[in-house]
Amino acid sequence: MKQFPKNFLWGAATSAPQSEGAALIDGKSATTWDKWFEMEPERFNSNQGPQVTSDVYHQYKDEVKRMKAINMNSYRTSISWARLLPDGKNLNEKAVKFYRDYFTELKENGVEPIINLFHFDMPWWLMERGGWEVREAVEAFAFYAKTAFEQFGDIVKKWSTFNEPMVHIECGYLGDAHYPRKNDFKLAVQVGYHTLMAHTRAVEEFRKLAIKNGEIGIILNVSPAYARSESKEDVEAKECADSLYIFSFLDPVALGKFPEKLVSLLKENNLLPQMEERDKQLIAENTVDFLGMNYYQPFRVKAPVQTHTPAIRPNDFFSGYDMPGKRMNEYRGWEIYPEALYDVAMMMKNKYHNIPWYVSENGMGVAEEERFADENGEIQDDYRIDFMKEHLEQLHKGIQDGSNCFGYHTWTFADCWSWLNGYRNRYGFYRVDIENDCKRTIKKSGHWYKKLIEKNGF
Ligand code: NOJ
Repeated sequence: MKQFPKNFLWGAATSAPQSEGAALIDGKSATTWDKWFEMEPERFNSNQGPQVTSDVYHQYKDEVKRMKAINMNSYRTSISWARLLPDGKNLNEKAVKFYRDYFTELKENGVEPIINLFHFDMPWWLMERGGWEVREAVEAFAFYAKTAFEQFGDIVKKWSTFNEPMVHIECGYLGDAHYPRKNDFKLAVQVGYHTLMAHTRAVEEFRKLAIKNGEIGIILNVSPAYARSESKEDVEAKECADSLYIFSFLDPVALGKFPEKLVSLLKENNLLPQMEERDKQLIAENTVDFLGMNYYQPFRVKAPVQTHTPAIRPNDFFSGYDMPGKRMNEYRGWEIYPEALYDVAMMMKNKYHNIPWYVSENGMGVAEEERFADENGEIQDDYRIDFMKEHLEQLHKGIQDGSNCFGYHTWTFADCWSWLNGYRNRYGFYRVDIENDCKRTIKKSGHWYKKLIEKNGF
């Protein structure tokens, strides 16, 4: 039996834009997702946009009941900036009421809310002014964060600033899967820097308010890089990949400074962002209380195959490659490598002074999951149970070896809308029938998770 620590947080995560729906009612203003969908609906799988998602805005009471029914003791979601402050300045009272009711409902049912502030959902009014490209966004975010802490800090004790900041940078400024789908490495670095400063200023506001028993962190995606060989070139590629994609946020938020490798890499390539004088000190003084690590898959790297053509790209420093014989999630195309979760646990212990952390997302996305329904319509997702078990085994080993992990959250509780993928890849413990008022049906994994939580292990 693998027993987890007492008071371990068991739960699942989602986000406002992927679960609430009610995208344009009760005073909420548009986000980049709402506008982008209006502009190019054909880019979204089956032309399905963010209007309804899983309708939690209207159905949160039943949703919380279902969480309780499978014994969950914690849940992460986010606040929609565009709902709380539709024009960036004035409070939307309907949003205040909705979030207060929703978070209270969670608490009263023994489900600790972990509330995140930004999950890829930039308000449109700010995007029109440049979004994270402009410094103005840092103070706009700090004001939003302060407002949220003031409005909900009596109910919510665990806060995070951003979810996977590297994703809006990569997908929006090095690729085209997020708006504004630009492709510019230097701009991507500036966007990343402003995001980090927005996080830092939010932490500063949090400290000033001194919320009783309050803790603040950030949720980062970690796909640890593994070099193809021990050759100098491949190892260098691994270090560049980790410095750019992982340590660029982890070091400043947890250690209060940038990694030297990152600074020299950016400097040598004329990629350093514009900074302000007080920034260095702000970063040093506002480290987090805890970290959330989203882990899905490793990153296999080798020495770069391209150099500076046509413009400088992260691929100038490393290339991804397919490791022979790797295990795949054949339903989604991602590698399955649970051992990386143990490596993350050890990294937290050894490199980040054994900071309290939790697995803030882990899970398995599957397309056309209705294939696995039994005669009663229940999805028999043994593949998901196996996936979670294997990852939990590695996590357990990490905890046994002294890593300070306080919880495990899966992505996600009920199937949700997934950006350009629409509803294609399903991840939930509950299947959501979007054609039928978002009716939920539990999957086999939901029963399994319930028992796991009951025993605090497996
Ligand atoms: C990471 C993100 O936080 C979430 O928005 C996304 O849908 C899941 N992973 C699944 O890919």
